[in-house]
Amino acid sequence: MTAPSEDLEAPQAGPLTWWPAPAKLNLFLHVTHRYSDGYHALQTVFQLIERCDRIGLAPRADGRIERRTTLAQVPPEQDLTVRAARALQRHTGVSLGADIHLLKQIPLGGGLGGGSSDAATVLVALNALWDTGLAPEELSQLGLALGADVPVFVHGASAWAEGRGERLTALELPQRWYLVVHPGVAVSTAEIFQAAELTRNSPVITIRDFSPDRVGNVCEPVVRARYPAVGEALEWLSRQPGAFGHPVQGRMSGTGSCVFAAFDSAEQAERVAARVPDRWSSFVARGLNRSPLHELLQRWRLQ
Ligand code: C5P
Repeated sequence: MTAPSEDLEAPQAGPLTWWPAPAKLNLFLHVTHRYSDGYHALQTVFQLIERCDRIGLAPRADGRIERRTTLAQVPPEQDLTVRAARALQRHTGVSLGADIHLLKQIPLGGGLGGGSSDAATVLVALNALWDTGLAPEELSQLGLALGADVPVFVHGASAWAEGRGERLTALELPQRWYLVVHPGVAVSTAEIFQAAELTRNSPVITIRDFSPDRVGNVCEPVVRARYPAVGEALEWLSRQPGAFGHPVQGRMSGTGSCVFAAFDSAEQAERVAARVPDRWSSFVARGLNRSPLHELLQRWRLQ
């Protein structure tokens, strides 16, 4: 977790408010073809989970967008939160700016959508704080230009997704607890999508073919071959007992590196979490059908 470095001298046009940015898991991930621009057509299910980054936002009167947290791995100009705020500013012509604070809890390069979720939270929360009044679909379009995973977080519901990840159908997934294991490596999404050996011709399925226990991530063999720690974590997970002592099914999220398994109760998940080898970090998180960002926004609007 990175502590924000506060600068109370900044000219503020509004108080600092904090907004959650939840992580996601891909319950399965297929690539059905490649578009002419190099992007890939996916079929996936995004399961939102309660593990969240926190984004602090304080509107500024002088129009500047400033990141107030030092994040060694990501320079401010590349940070999706800063880029999201600038994109919304440009698109709406609003004269306000913002100070942006980040509390990172979602690992970088872990396939959990942390950077995209942070960007979505900035778009949704600043749209409210700046009173710019964009509809979710417009915010989603702005978000898609920043990253393929941004739209699901803008819409704020677990969903069946197609296209680059922006054609979304909200799903009511059964209540599950997820043990997420981070095998200590960061994976570049671009590297995995560029891999010659990636399977790009998964048969097209329909939403009716999906069950929450469906597994299969076409990126998994590519990542396992290049990052052995991911394969080791998957094999370890698949040896752990789940319901009625049956072994759990280890899966990889997105392009990795995080792997996960689903459990029917928090206790079952915690029992396995207690055995995760010290060389990896892990957490247990409840699956969510609705984003906590949207629940907070609703309460904020009612104030
Ligand atoms: O959109 P995002 O920045 O998360 O994607 C990172 C990289 O992953 C892209 O530059 C692209 O190379 C690849 N990608 C892809 N098809 C997708 C999503 C991502 O080829 N649907």
